[in-house]
Amino acid sequence: MAPNRELIERVRALPAAQPLIARLGDESGVYLVGGAVRDLLLGGEPYELDLVVEGDAIALASRLGGPTEVHDRFGTSSVTLDGYTYDIAQARRESYPEPGALPEVFPASLTDDLSRRDFTVNAMAVALGREAPGELSAVPRALEDLQARQLRVLHKRSFLDDPTRLLRLARYASRLRFSIEPGTRVLAIAAIRAGALRTLSGSRVGAELRLLAREREPLAALRCMAQLGIDRAIHPSFGLHDQELAQRALELLPSDAATERLVVALAAQAVPPPELSALLDDLAFEAADRDAILAATARGKETAQALAAATRPSQVAAAVAGAGPELVALAGALGPAQAAREWLMRLRHVGLAIDGDDMLAEGVPRGPAVGRGLRAALVAKLDGWASGRDEELAEALRAARGAGSLGR
Ligand code: CTP
Repeated sequence: MAPNRELIERVRALPAAQPLIARLGDESGVYLVGGAVRDLLLGGEPYELDLVVEGDAIALASRLGGPTEVHDRFGTSSVTLDGYTYDIAQARRESYPEPGALPEVFPASLTDDLSRRDFTVNAMAVALGREAPGELSAVPRALEDLQARQLRVLHKRSFLDDPTRLLRLARYASRLRFSIEPGTRVLAIAAIRAGALRTLSGSRVGAELRLLAREREPLAALRCMAQLGIDRAIHPSFGLHDQELAQRALELLPSDAATERLVVALAAQAVPPPELSALLDDLAFEAADRDAILAATARGKETAQALAAATRPSQVAAAVAGAGPELVALAGALGPAQAAREWLMRLRHVGLAIDGDDMLAEGVPRGPAVGRGLRAALVAKLDGWASGRDEELAEALRAARGAGSLGR
């Protein structure tokens, strides 16, 4: 099959592309671009499809017919078709008024648009419109870099213009398992030494760090940051110091917990607490994330000691009282792995079949006795000597009325 034909067939075969292709009709100047093209050529099945149009992005989004949203003053839009959301940007060139600042953007050709991008393997586009469908456009060396599985910037000032690309470099290197082209490595290290990250706002650094921490292999990404010195540029004590501990902690973390918090806590362990609090604020972490990260770094050791001393399930529960899963995982990685696992996998889900209303209905007056009773019932349930509603209620009432427990 001719290369164009083969490529457009591969795009058409993507579940995520079908609603779009069905509505594109005889539009022209529309291209699939960026990571989706890279992943398609690597044999993957990209899900998030970004489009570039040589023309008005808002107008294209509205012609496609689904609900649309306009994201910036340059008209970058998104449209949702049959549950799939597509980002549509007008082809642009960029100029950076100063290093690290957001760029000024101007309408331009697809070729200009590709040459403003971060890495060669991300600077490729496939034509979708009626003229030459499936035609691949790429910056020089994009295909050979993809073949060699390496990340290369397009020009010498790339990291200085946009230092978020330093964190993107670590993120892609770990996710794609690509190497860093030697000249690009030299430029990255030079940019970091020149203080490029300091020209960015804290919230932009934080946004990139959060994306990196959510990667499937975040420890590989942190190792890459360390090799380039990106972690130390964020804070002199930031970075992963104990790989094995980090690995153990991640393995303990249940799948419903936020990996991002644990990863940042692991990298932040050597940052003194008051500095860490200021750093997380500067990086624009949301309050709940910041507090969970601070707790995990500050209370890991004491929680590990308390867990190590716990013998009964109710003591495990008491040892981790109020702790989030990332703190428990980190504490478990410091030693008491079995107790941490028991809590994370089982005990934290144990709840009572009764509540305060049941106790009021039995004549317990409102007040501290209700809480005392419920706590006692939970201890009994955790330790396995009260099961079912009746036994829980009996234990709760005994404790509420001040009698000693019968279960021990
Ligand atoms: N881009 C860039 N410089 C940045 C951010 C983005 O050049 N600082 C370009 C890259 O070409 C990238 C595209 O914009 O491919 C879209 O960026 P993003 O949405 O972050 O990545 P995707 O390509 O959508 O997805 P992935 O993370 O899978 O690469």
